[in-house]
Amino acid sequence: MSHPAGPVHCASVLDPNAPTDAERWSALRDDPRVDVVDTIAAQRAELAAVRPPVPADVTDEPDRWVYYPWRRVLARALGPRGYRRLRLDRNRNLLSADELETLGRLRVGVVGLSVGHAIAHTLATQGLCGELRLADFDAIDVSNLNRVPATLLDVGVNKAVVCARRIAELDPYLPVLVTQDGLTPDTVDGFLDGLDVLVEECDSLDAKVLVRAAARARGIPVLMATSSGGLLDVERFDTDRDRPLLHGLLGDLAEMDADALAGLSAKEKVPRVLRIIDASGLPARMAASLLEVGTTLTTWPQLASEVAVGAASVAEAVRRIGLGEPLASGRVKVDVPALLDQVREPGRSGAAVGSDERAYGQAPAVPAGEVIDVVAAAAQRAPSGGNTQPWIVEKPGAPPQHRLDIHLDPDLTSAMDVGFRGSAVAVGAATFNARVAAAARGVGARVDFRLGDERFPLSAAVTLGDSEPDLALAELYPAMMRRETNRRHGERIELGDDVVAELNAAADREGARLCLLTDPPDLQRAAAILATADRIRYLTPHLHAQMIDELRWPGDPSPDTGIEVRSLELDDADVVLLDILRRGDVMTHLATWDAGTVLGDDSRTKISAAAGVAIVTVAGGALTDYARAGAAVESVWICTQQHGLAVQPVSPAFLYAVDDADFAALSPRFAKALADLQYTFRTLVSANPAESLALVLRLSRAPRPSVVSRRRGREDNSSPN
Ligand SMILES: Cc1cc2nc3c(=O)[nH]c(=O)nc-3n(C[C@H](O)[C@H](O)[C@H](O)COP(=O)(O)O)c2cc1C
Repeated sequence: MSHPAGPVHCASVLDPNAPTDAERWSALRDDPRVDVVDTIAAQRAELAAVRPPVPADVTDEPDRWVYYPWRRVLARALGPRGYRRLRLDRNRNLLSADELETLGRLRVGVVGLSVGHAIAHTLATQGLCGELRLADFDAIDVSNLNRVPATLLDVGVNKAVVCARRIAELDPYLPVLVTQDGLTPDTVDGFLDGLDVLVEECDSLDAKVLVRAAARARGIPVLMATSSGGLLDVERFDTDRDRPLLHGLLGDLAEMDADALAGLSAKEKVPRVLRIIDASGLPARMAASLLEVGTTLTTWPQLASEVAVGAASVAEAVRRIGLGEPLASGRVKVDVPALLDQVREPGRSGAAVGSDERAYGQAPAVPAGEVIDVVAAAAQRAPSGGNTQPWIVEKPGAPPQHRLDIHLDPDLTSAMDVGFRGSAVAVGAATFNARVAAAARGVGARVDFRLGDERFPLSAAVTLGDSEPDLALAELYPAMMRRETNRRHGERIELGDDVVAELNAAADREGARLCLLTDPPDLQRAAAILATADRIRYLTPHLHAQMIDELRWPGDPSPDTGIEVRSLELDDADVVLLDILRRGDVMTHLATWDAGTVLGDDSRTKISAAAGVAIVTVAGGALTDYARAGAAVESVWICTQQHGLAVQPVSPAFLYAVDDADFAALSPRFAKALADLQYTFRTLVSANPAESLALVLRLSRAPRPSVVSRRRGREDNSSPN
């Protein structure tokens, strides 16, 4: 390519330690006409603060001195690797380190440095190229300064040179080659040789055709922003060399040679130009202005804002091409004025999910009516993972009925509910509630669990009236109806020995064991494990999708199952965060970057600050064992609330997995991590190999939750006080 003599555009990068540079550097430093700018201390401090820490071979890189002859300035800079790392640090993770490295090898040519100036500068600033080639024959005029970010000092200087200088001041290490003659049939091939992308921003029709034809022959994609109506034009000659130039909009002109083109009159060119810039879709002022060119206007108008939008569009197109992401040939309009006609008030989802404080009213009285109905209603108030209510409650036989069947409904399972074990816990809790309600009505109740037939993996038969009522259970009725999940942050209080003893007894009576962690170091360990498991739940696509599906927003058409967002007790900042956390595409990025520790923060902070973590375990691993444990969970939960404490189950993703296949099905990518976490957790709670984990409860002191959870098929979904 040609490098004609002309005003200098290159900065000199000097290493005072290199013998070849030392002499020049000291001469410049001692020259009284040269200003010295030394901000290296600030640059080093900033580099040292970069996260994660930059390796020593980058921090130890020797500084350089950069001489800008057009400014007569000698400036000190970090070495090339440190400078690049620091300068582009704020791109992460919008552009990853790997992506920046790939883009750093891209060679981009820009022809026409009025609009092209903003484009080339954006590409350089954003780190979207590793070499720039700029071509323009024209010099800066004052009338360019409404859209070209040059200065009065640049007037009369070649436009490509002005742009190259500006980029050298931005990044002295970025190679920028300049052609000051514009492109001709003789120079175009040299300019294009080895380019990955060409950006064409010429005024002249001849030049448009010339560079496109040459780019097509070499399979180089061509981009153009017209700066009127936000039009971006893409020609993927890299994937399709048979495409007509400019999508055929030029007609016969596209195939003319340079001489024939040069011979065309302005009148013959105008209709083609109008087609290129899509005159029919131009904003009205622009279209009217075209009619005035040559009379009241010297040439067509252009605004800096349009040029900036064009630069943004081209930058994104270059990024896609550079990273091999989809970008079709064709055109698109990024019409900012049209978009501003669509300004609307933002939705205020936060206001709708705010929490308020509720107090307990009078203790719920035991309802009158058929005992079997009271028992059925109590069973349905049981807790269940994601409030799926994975049961079918039936009253078999004709009235007067003495039996209630509670079947585990396999259709209401989820990935976390491995082997229906979580559902079995819920069914077990429902049977406990049934026994309490029956006792409160003065009727004894016996529960028989039965392992599944083909339809139901587990069933519980609650038989009424063939035993004496349990008075201790009867007294639990109000507390049972008030049992609730409380997701408030809560605070830590010391649990007295009497409370601990009662909680243990509550589990014992139902044939399960309680492990109660209350020492802060144990709580920290549990917090770390549960937080890591939560992060995995977020980062595993199907677990994340199911978790988000469980949420019920105001106006949800099926609010009788699932978890109301209000019950998450979020403050305004959390609501905004939830808008990000619910997005699968965001989780995909975090998973790719192996990032997202923040996803475990909620569990980590709540559990670290808890009064205790109660783990209910049971001997055996059959669904009937989990159901027994479910009754124990409910018994412990009610007892805890009776002592003025709030309860929230916190289910780690590994809770119900028992073998490698379970872990793999839960999360193919994190299977091993989940297995390790479960092992560490089981060790923490001293679970023996024959014991199963039924549920983990976080205990704290907190005001009541904002809302009462709802149940399917119940007209009376109001608070049971
Ligand atoms: C097996 C099981 C697992 C649960 N896991 C969680 C959990 O991880 N996080 C949570 O906030 N609540 C959890 N819960 C509580 C349920 O979401 C809650 O019981 C349901 O939404 C009904 O609300 P209620 O308990 O206030 O009646 C779980 C409950 C059960 C029975």
